[in-house]
Amino acid sequence: MKTRGRTALITGGNRGLGEAIARALHDAGHAVIVTHTPGNSRVAAWLQAQAAEGYAFAAYGVDVSDYESTQELARQVHADGHRVDILVNNAGITRDSTLRKLDKPGWDAVLRTNLDSMFNVTKPFIEPMIGRGWGRIINIASINGSKGQFGQTNYSASKAGVHGFTKALAQEVARKGVTVNTVSPGYLATEMVSAVREDVLGQIVAAIPVGRLGEPAEIAALVAFIASDAAAFMTGSNVSMNGGQHMY
Ligand code: CAA
Repeated sequence: MKTRGRTALITGGNRGLGEAIARALHDAGHAVIVTHTPGNSRVAAWLQAQAAEGYAFAAYGVDVSDYESTQELARQVHADGHRVDILVNNAGITRDSTLRKLDKPGWDAVLRTNLDSMFNVTKPFIEPMIGRGWGRIINIASINGSKGQFGQTNYSASKAGVHGFTKALAQEVARKGVTVNTVSPGYLATEMVSAVREDVLGQIVAAIPVGRLGEPAEIAALVAFIASDAAAFMTGSNVSMNGGQHMY
């Protein structure tokens, strides 16, 4: 089985951590498909800028929180002749608020986007992986799924759920050549983290032993390893990379 030359699909692959993962998997020699939210008007310019740097990505719009939208995505991707060997469930959102102030839409949006998406997107892509006897599913969780975070009951619950999903599915497909793993990043230099109030973020960074935010490319290198043949014995794992902020 060759490590290079497979096809990867990364949800939310056009920005932040997803973009870094898309680039790392492209660097590893894979064909890369990214998904973005439907109607995202910045994607065409983004694709052009990536192409100018040597990164040729295919892009599809999908709402990962919506089951029908994800089934349509899979139909399109397969109809276009792609076979997805590596699935990175990366798309995620925050709606930070203490539970006392959190409203139902703020709970639902996060759980649907971060957790329901695991079912929605994995479901149509895993069957062909099993059929071919090779696959990699890499689910992006968070340090806050393990340690919890003030103001993130919704996000922490969703990310803890991600790893529960990983562990159950890993057992179901371990004999089929498909591995399923979770990657739990700490605080990274991305738009998502820079949305945190400055004073709150200052306190968080002060609590990171290495003394800085992580770089998306650092997490992406880990994802590229898990996607490789060298990681065939790794399944059901939750690999954290957080600058020492949470050790467990
Ligand atoms: N622990 C204990 N108490 C705290 C606290 C903490 N960490 N932070 C604040 N408090 C206290 C305050 O002192 C205050 O106490 P009093 O009422 O006695 O004065 C009370 O809680 C309310 O605090 P705030 O006024 O700050 O509450 P707020 O509603 O204005 O802000 C919040 C709440 C906006 C949700 C803020 O807590 C917050 O931004 N939290 C989330 C931060 C975060 O880490 N987000 C991660 C985003 S990035 C990401 O998610 C990626 C990833 O995977 C890592």
